Amino acid sequence: MTTPFTILVIHGPNLNLLGKREPDIYGHRTLENINLMIYERSRSMGVDVKIFQSNTEGAIIDFIQENMEASGIIINPGAYTHTSVALRDAIASVNLPAVEVHLSNIHAREEFRRESLIAPVCLGQICGFGANSYILGLEAIKAFLLEQIDRRR
Ligand code: DQA
Repeated sequence: MTTPFTILVIHGPNLNLLGKREPDIYGHRTLENINLMIYERSRSMGVDVKIFQSNTEGAIIDFIQENMEASGIIINPGAYTHTSVALRDAIASVNLPAVEVHLSNIHAREEFRRESLIAPVCLGQICGFGANSYILGLEAIKAFLLEQIDRRR
């Protein structure tokens, strides 16, 4: 079944280095490889995705503001998860359903990674499943959007 949903998939800082960056934690897959998987899986799920990566807080905020007409957001905010009030405010401002995702289980790592400033303005958080966290995020947001349509009927 095809749906009219367009989901923004946002990768934050340093995720462009996946494959080379701390592979023991983040795995060996490159961002390009993960994006190909996201495109493939989203096609079979019948949703459109618009993928964006930036190392800059402001660029991520601009991207969110420029795409307010989207249906939802999957975001791996990288280290901004733990620091960025501005990114949290951007997500809250556009009023789109969002899912926070992480490759690693941030709750099983250093103390400072256990707090997310972003999760409270999201539907939920998925972490610890490597690249599959993005796919689980897509499934979750699609299910949420379909339920919303059902409820309106
Ligand atoms: C990360 C976890 C963050 O704590 C870290 O700063 C990252 C990657 C993850 O996907 O596991 O850059 O978001």
